[in-house]
Amino acid sequence: MTEDAYRLKSPDGSELELPVRSGTVGPDVIDIAGLYKAQGIFTYDPGFVSTGSCESDITFIDGEQGILMYRGYPVEQLAKHSSFIEVSYLLQHGELPTADELSEFDNTIRVHTMLNEGMLSFFKGFRYDAHPMAMLSAIVGSMSAYYHDEMNASNPAHRDIFAHRILAKLPTIAAAAYKLNVGQPFIYPRNDLNYTENLLHMLFAVPAEPYEIDPVAAEALDLLFILHADHEQNCSTSTVRMAGSSGANPYSAIAAGIAALWGPAHGGANEAVLNMLEEIGDVSQIGKYVEKAKDKNDPFRLMGFGHRVYKNFDPRATIIREMAYKVLEKLDRKDTPLFDLAQELEQVALKDDYFIEKNLYPNVDFYSGIIYRALGIPTSMFTVMFALGRSVGWTAHWREMIADPKGKIARPRQLYTGPAARDYVDVSKR
Ligand code: SDX
Repeated sequence: MTEDAYRLKSPDGSELELPVRSGTVGPDVIDIAGLYKAQGIFTYDPGFVSTGSCESDITFIDGEQGILMYRGYPVEQLAKHSSFIEVSYLLQHGELPTADELSEFDNTIRVHTMLNEGMLSFFKGFRYDAHPMAMLSAIVGSMSAYYHDEMNASNPAHRDIFAHRILAKLPTIAAAAYKLNVGQPFIYPRNDLNYTENLLHMLFAVPAEPYEIDPVAAEALDLLFILHADHEQNCSTSTVRMAGSSGANPYSAIAAGIAALWGPAHGGANEAVLNMLEEIGDVSQIGKYVEKAKDKNDPFRLMGFGHRVYKNFDPRATIIREMAYKVLEKLDRKDTPLFDLAQELEQVALKDDYFIEKNLYPNVDFYSGIIYRALGIPTSMFTVMFALGRSVGWTAHWREMIADPKGKIARPRQLYTGPAARDYVDVSKR
C-alpha cells in the first residue's frame, strides 16, 4: 500500500489504489490513467473544473492567493523589470536569456516579421468590415500552406523556426487586418524597430506622412503583452495542445487557439467589456446592470468579472488598472468617462454579496480595453491584441506537448445519455 495514494472502493467491494503525484508547488493530482482499465469506469468533469490535463513546467497560477509565475518568476517582477521579447524567450526556453542570447533572439524575431507576398493577397478576399479575429485565424491557418517544408515536429530546428515565425508574423498579420478595416494601405514591418514600436508603426503609419511612435504607447503595449503571454491550461492553450496532439501542422493548431480565444467567455471578453461599459453608459445605470448580472433568468454577465481559477484578484488586473491611470495621465487623456465608470462598477460589484460569495473579481480583461482604446486601438482589435501576447504561450505549450516522450493524442470519453440500441424503421412505417 503506497503512502501517497487514494484508495477507491467500488460498489462490488473491489479496491483500487490511485497514485497521488506532487508538483513543485500547487495542488497534488490523483493519477487516474489506469482507472477505466481496472474498473471500467470514467471520471466525469465537464469543463475540466477539477482535472489536470498534463504536466507542465511553464506557468503556475494559484487562484486563491492570486499568484501567477512564468517559469517560476512572479509576473509582477517580470512586468516591472523585463520586456515582452525577453519574456517570450523565457517562456520558450525556460530560462532568462543572457545579453547575447536576448540580442540574438530579438534580431531573429525582427528578421521574420515580413509575410510571404502571396499571403497578402488573401486579405483582398475579405469584406472591408471582416472581424480582425476572423482574418487573424484564417491567415495564421494559411501559414501551414506556406511553411510545410520546415515542419517536421521532431526536428528541434523546425520547432524553433515555427515559434519565431508565429511570434514575428502575428503583429504584421494583425496590422494588415486593421488596415483592411480602415481602408488604408498595408504598412510593411521595419527591422529597426522593436516589437511594440513596429506594431504601432504598422497599425498607424500612412504613406502620406511620417509617423512618430509614442514611447508611452510602446511601453504600455509591451507591458500588456507580458501580462497576456501565458496562463497555463486555459481554453485556447488547451485547444492548441489538443489540436497539436494529433500531429497536426502547428500553424493550424495556433489558428485553432485563436478561434477559441475569440469567445466572449475567454479572450473575447476585453471587447465585450468595452461594449458593456458603453451600454451601461452612466454610473446611474450601474445598479441596474449589477442586478441583471445577478439575475439567473437574465443571460447578462458582468464581462471582465469572474475567473475559473482566480477566486481572488487576478494579479494582472491589478497591474493593468494601475497602468491605466499612468497611460491616461501620460497621454494627457482627460476624456476618461469609461475608465471612471469601470472603476465605479468595480467598487459597486465588489461590495455586493453576490460577487463576494461567488468570488467574482475583475480579471485581466476588465481594464485592458481602457488602455487599448486610449492608444487609439479600436474595440474590434482588442482580442487580436490578446492573441499577440498569448501567441508566445501557445507556442511554448505546443513545444512542450510535442517534445513529451510520453505524449499521446488527446481523446476524452463521455457519459452517454442518448437512446439505447434500437432497430431501423422503414420510412413507410414512421
Ligand atoms: C480569460 O482560463 C483562463 O486562464 C482565462 C484567461 C487567460 O488568461 O487565458 O484568464 C483569460 O478568459 C478571463 C475571463 C474572461 N471572461 C469574462 O470576463 C466573461 C465573464 N466571466 C464569466 O463568464 C465567468 O466568470 C468565466 C467564464 C470567466 C468563468 O466561468 P466558470 O469558472 O465556468 O464559472 P461559472 O460560469 O460556473 O460561474 C460560477 C458562478 C455562476 O453562478 P451559479 O451558477 O454558481 O449560481 O458565478 C456566476 C455564474 O453565474 N458568474 C457570474 C459571472 N461569472 C460567473 N455572474 C455574473 N457575472 C459574471 N461575470
